[in-house]
Amino acid sequence: MSLPPTGHVEGAAAPAVPGYAIGVEPRCYALVPCAGSGQRAGPGGPKQYRHVAGQPVVAHTLAALAAVPRLAATLVVLSPDDGQFEQALPGLDGNRLWTARCGGATRAASVCAGLDELIARGAQPHDWVLVHDAARCLITPALIDRLIDACWKDEIGGLLALPLADTLKDATPDGRVAATLDRSGKWAAQTPQMFRLGLLRPALAHAGEGVTDEASAIESLGHAPLLVRGALDNFKLTWPEDFALAERLLQVPGR
Ligand code: C5P
Repeated sequence: MSLPPTGHVEGAAAPAVPGYAIGVEPRCYALVPCAGSGQRAGPGGPKQYRHVAGQPVVAHTLAALAAVPRLAATLVVLSPDDGQFEQALPGLDGNRLWTARCGGATRAASVCAGLDELIARGAQPHDWVLVHDAARCLITPALIDRLIDACWKDEIGGLLALPLADTLKDATPDGRVAATLDRSGKWAAQTPQMFRLGLLRPALAHAGEGVTDEASAIESLGHAPLLVRGALDNFKLTWPEDFALAERLLQVPGR
């Protein structure tokens, strides 16, 4: 699908993005926070560099993003002391793939620093940024396109997410059920999460480093991001056993 000619949304209320440029075609960038230590994943180093299906986790993630022509470029945010990326992913095309060693102590800090880097490289307030976890290596070009198609004309933007299927329990510190929570209307947030640069940057500054996704930052400004149906496969590799599951899924022919 080709991009619509302008960033103007017909009939929309006042633009949520300061500096929103009517008549200027916005670009889409991907921003991949890749600066975590992944301690919940157990020994073996940062999870984004562990191998699944013959490649580092982040290589699968970047291959899916690279297969989406509507993304002008992908910026990978690395830890300042990262010594593995170039070694783990040799021969990457630097044309649409940028790296910056500007990661912070939290995911939100890494994303903020990445947004500043995108601005330094010419991104504008009305441009879209799709923030996607390096550790969600089962993302597909079709899912990324689904999110772009759904959000492109939206005034706020949105995120991939899934309605909760399981019954939801609140736990006590010693691992017992404290309460059963109402699961109706509850969704589990995934990534990518797609917002305009000029809205996301002040939202993250307002929300602080505690937020674990971009949508929460946008919500803190009183906006309601769009929920776009993701997929069960698009889980974030978090626990030691997740690597074997990702390996099996990545080897399914034609996925
Ligand atoms: O730790 P968590 O699973 O929430 O990390 C999600 C993504 O954010 C991962 O891709 C990780 O590398 C990244 N991250 C980051 N900077 C941090 C912490 C996490 O870029 N300080």
